[in-house]
Amino acid sequence: MSHSLTLRRPDDWHLHLRDGAMLRAVLPETARHFARAIIMPNLVPPVVTGAQAAAYRDRIMAALPEGMAFEPLMTLYLTEDTDPADVAAAHASGLVKAVKLYPAGATTNSASGVRDFARIAPVLEKMAEIGLPLCTHGEVTAAEVDIFDREALFIDKVLDPIRRAHPGLRVVMEHITTSQAVDYVTAADESLGATITTHHLVINRNHILVGGIKPHYYCLPVAKREEHRLALVKAATSGADRFFLGTDSAPHVDPLKEHACGCAGCFTATNTMSVLAEVFEAEGALDRLEGFTSLNGPAFYRLPANEATITLTKGDPVTYPAKIDSGDGPVTVFDPGFPLHWRVDA
Ligand code: DOR
Ligand code: ZN
Repeated sequence: MSHSLTLRRPDDWHLHLRDGAMLRAVLPETARHFARAIIMPNLVPPVVTGAQAAAYRDRIMAALPEGMAFEPLMTLYLTEDTDPADVAAAHASGLVKAVKLYPAGATTNSASGVRDFARIAPVLEKMAEIGLPLCTHGEVTAAEVDIFDREALFIDKVLDPIRRAHPGLRVVMEHITTSQAVDYVTAADESLGATITTHHLVINRNHILVGGIKPHYYCLPVAKREEHRLALVKAATSGADRFFLGTDSAPHVDPLKEHACGCAGCFTATNTMSVLAEVFEAEGALDRLEGFTSLNGPAFYRLPANEATITLTKGDPVTYPAKIDSGDGPVTVFDPGFPLHWRVDA
C-alpha cells in the first residue's frame, strides 16, 4: 500500500474568508494547502459590483502573510438590481470568475439575494453569452417548505427552469447535500457542475442532533440522512469530472455558534485535505482524490490546473488545533469524529 501521495496543489471552489481580523486569521489556514479559491461575496454589505470585488481582492492580498502564495478568484453577489454591463466588465478584466445566486433569506447574509427570478434574466443572458458561471445556493426559502426538502425543491422549481430558459448558462450547484442533486448533475450536460463540501462527506443529520445538539455541525444546506451522505461520497469518489471540492469553510466565532440562534457554517479549512484523504482511502479511491481536489474544478472553470504539488503521507495520527484564534474570538475547527493519519506537506 502506498503511504505517500503527491497531488497537484488543490483549489477550493467555495470558500468564505470574511473580512478584517477574521480574514487575517482564516486566510493562512486555506493558503497553507490551497493555491486558489472561489471567494464567497456574502459580506456585510455584500460584494455586488466589480469595484467592490476589486477592493475585496486587495484586502485579501493585503492579509496574506509574507511568503505565502494564494490567488483569490472573486465572485459577485447577484441582486435583482445587478447591472449586466458591470458583470461583463468585471469578467472581461479577469477579476471575476463567477456570480453567486443566493435566494433571499436562504442563509448567512442573504437578505439582498433574489426574490423574483424573472428580474435576473438579463444578467443570466449576459453570463450565458460570455461564459461566466453562475454559482447557486440551491435551497428554496418558502417558510412552508421543510428545511430537509429545500434543496430537492430548488432543483425542480428554480434551477431546472433557469437552465431551460438559458441553455448556454454554465452553472455550479454548490455544496450539494442530496441524492437528488447528485442524480440531477449526473444526468445533466457539461454546462452543470457541483461542489461537495468536506463536512457533507462526513456527517449526516444524526451528527447534529443525536446525544445533544452539536452546533459546530450545523451548516446550510443542513446535512441530510445517511443515504444522502453515501450518495455524495459515491459521487465525489467516482471520478466523474463534474463533481469537485468546494469546502464552504465558513468561520463563525464560538459564541455565535454556541448560541440560542446559532450561525450556520463548519470551519474546515485547516484539516480538509487530511479528512478527505481518510474519506477517499476508505472508499479505495485515493487515486481519484487529485481529480476531486485539483483537476475537475479547474477544468470546469476553464483554468489551468496548478503546477505546484502537495504531498500527503500516511503515518501516526496527525493533530490539528481544535480551535484557531480569530482576534474576534475562537473558531472551532471541524471535528470529523475519526483519527486523521494523512499529514500534508505543502
Ligand atoms: O453553512 C453555511 N455558512 N452555509 C452558507 O450558505 C453560508 C455560510 C456562511 O456564510 O456562514
Ligand atoms: Zn457558502
